[in-house]
Amino acid sequence: MPEPDLAFRRQHLLGIEGLEAWEILDLLERADAYVELNRQTAKKLDLLRGLTQVNLFFETSTRTRTSFELAGKRLGADVVNMSVGVSAIKKGETLIDTAMTLNAMHPDVLVVRHHESGAVALLARHVRCAVINAGDGSHEHPTQALLDALTIRRRKGRIAGLTVAICGDLLHSRVARSNILLLLALGARVRLIGPPTLLLPHVEGWGVEMHTDMRRGLTGVDVVMMLRLQTERMQGSYVPSVREYFHYYGLTYDKLALASPDALVMHPGPMNRGVEIDGVVADDIDRSAILDQVEMGVAVRMAVLEALTHRARGGN
Ligand code: NCD
Repeated sequence: MPEPDLAFRRQHLLGIEGLEAWEILDLLERADAYVELNRQTAKKLDLLRGLTQVNLFFETSTRTRTSFELAGKRLGADVVNMSVGVSAIKKGETLIDTAMTLNAMHPDVLVVRHHESGAVALLARHVRCAVINAGDGSHEHPTQALLDALTIRRRKGRIAGLTVAICGDLLHSRVARSNILLLLALGARVRLIGPPTLLLPHVEGWGVEMHTDMRRGLTGVDVVMMLRLQTERMQGSYVPSVREYFHYYGLTYDKLALASPDALVMHPGPMNRGVEIDGVVADDIDRSAILDQVEMGVAVRMAVLEALTHRARGGN
């Protein structure tokens, strides 16, 4: 267990931006213990008994919502799922109204996903409880970056000094942004690989390398993180055709051969086989950590729920 004065003690988790390396490490340490708990038959604790967690999803989600739901239930919280896309928002209620309505029901934790960047931080200013950003537009998705870090650390034994390539639709990816911030904070080297239309602007000064040639970008890397082409965030056409995209930027064994021989393959899901990744690479249990990422997701979310409810549970 970390020293009490070195424990994560914030009210919200809105992003990786601004977190200290030791805060990230504290969450990863806690999550490691939950991985072991989740592998046992009896996985339920009563740490969050009496607390209410509301999962407020303005955007559809399968794995992230389920993962947060399981995490809350395994810690003994009462968990309620609200898909706002089909209720209040359709009737014209504003985000602030929704926040204030929920606030009046005295939840202890709100887990929020929203299609607009910054919406979760705005909502957090209008409620009294802890807020976790489960993805806001193309801005941040902090628990995804934490679960990716936990996956890398458990498979590679460290993060500092590794070279991680993040490939594909970087422009629309909150996963990429949170991962870049976290990996740099923990001392990894980051390479961004994608077509010129989908690379991140304004990252000069961040200390990342950019590549439009995937083969060159993958040379010698320790981890290859693939991203989905997020067509729902695209207006107009960013790639000539899916076939051409796969040819230049799809992860195949042929391209993976340029990475280090034991390079780990990752993808946050949902995955488009044959678009950004060849299905056989994704299913290769020796190389792909994609299902590990899903497993680590529950543990990381339990760690975050534990840390953010410290005060609600009577801590100082
Ligand atoms: C990601 C997301 O929603 O940002 N998925 C996830 O949380 N597992 C990535 C994506 O949608 O491509």
